[in-house]
Amino acid sequence: MALRILSHLLLLIIIALPPINANLEGDALYALRRSVNDPENVLQSWDPTLVDPCTCDLGNAKLSGKLVPELGKLECLQYLELYMNNLMGPIPAELGKLKSLVSLDLYHNNLTGSIPPSFSNLSNLKFLRLNGNRLTGRIPRELTKLGNLKIFDVSNNNLCGTIPTSGSFSKFTQESFMNNTRLEGPELMGFVRYDIGGCK
Ligand SMILES: *[C@@H]1O[C@H](CO)[C@@H](O)[C@H](O)[C@H]1NC(C)=O
Ligand SMILES: *[C@@H]1O[C@H](CO)[C@@H](O)[C@H](O)[C@H]1NC(C)=O
Ligand SMILES: *[C@@H]1O[C@H](CO)[C@@H](O)[C@H](O)[C@H]1NC(C)=O
Repeated sequence: MALRILSHLLLLIIIALPPINANLEGDALYALRRSVNDPENVLQSWDPTLVDPCTCDLGNAKLSGKLVPELGKLECLQYLELYMNNLMGPIPAELGKLKSLVSLDLYHNNLTGSIPPSFSNLSNLKFLRLNGNRLTGRIPRELTKLGNLKIFDVSNNNLCGTIPTSGSFSKFTQESFMNNTRLEGPELMGFVRYDIGGCK
């Protein structure tokens, strides 16, 4: 009984605490500004807390440099638009923590590495466009569970393995996967194993 009261009290205290989001957002912005070259000073004026819905709209803004894991702290983000810049390096797996994300557009950059399987946690995601980068590795099978996904584009990369066909992937056409010379598929459900074949 006493334990229960104690845990209720604890819960109340947690609820009553002021949100620490402002600090987290400050951290994320600071980290991004340090990592990314921003000749037009677009990051200086961007404050995700001042726009509703919480949006990062920095497409075609001449940004170069690397994405930072701290971006995963911007938990209110619904739109992360960083397309048509010159960003390089890997996509941080931490972006999979952006649970409110509806749209993630990183197309036409110079990103390398693989597509983070953590994206399968973005259950609100409708638009995922990663086309026109230099991404390698497989399309994470886990992404097929993204039930809200409407647009998925990984064309013009260097992905390999087979194209998933189950779940939301049953809707996507070949266009979504074009110009990945090592990508095979669509996989034959039940006949060919997903991870077969040379894909490094
Ligand atoms: C992409 O990055 C590589 C270095 O990793 C660089 O050599 C190349 O010029 C970049 N491509 C563009 C279009 O900037
Ligand atoms: C999805 O989120 C849960 C809980 O935060 C975490 O334990 C899990 O590792 C994540 N999944 C992936 C594929 O990263
Ligand atoms: C694939 O590459 C060719 C040649 O670069 C280009 O013309 C075509 O538009 C590309 N397809 C897609 C879907 O981007």
